[in-house]
Amino acid sequence: MTNTSLSPQDQKVTGQALQSALTGLINLGLQAKQAHWNLTGPNFRPVHLHLDEVVETVREHADTVAERAVAIGVPADGRPKTVAKEGGAEQFGAQPIPDREVVAGMTQLLGVVIGKLRDGIKETGDADPVSQDLLIQAAGDLEKHRWMFAAQQ
Ligand SMILES: [Fe+2]
Repeated sequence: MTNTSLSPQDQKVTGQALQSALTGLINLGLQAKQAHWNLTGPNFRPVHLHLDEVVETVREHADTVAERAVAIGVPADGRPKTVAKEGGAEQFGAQPIPDREVVAGMTQLLGVVIGKLRDGIKETGDADPVSQDLLIQAAGDLEKHRWMFAAQQ
């Protein structure tokens, strides 16, 4: 049994916030790879490279939030079927995607995950400030990426 200093209610609220962040981050990482591979257009090179930076950022934060969930006694659920159900809408198909569509799509997609993170930040302020801090760090990194994509439009 995991030791946790959280009350059952705080554990529940925090577990849900971390789980929501986890599926959003995994979805974002998968879709950034989809765009990384199928990207076309004059800005191929910088966008292609930036997408892998996003992947690196989200994988790191996904790992952190998943491990935090387990640390407070809530199993992490990063299964493909869970991500497909809860992670957010599909942004990119399986065909060549022009760079301007990738930039717009990534700005949109990042906004969705940032929204999930910010909801979680509000919900965990009282329940578990330690988890809240991890969500704040993730939101800060994703907001930087969103700014960089938005600035290209
Ligand atoms: Fe690559």
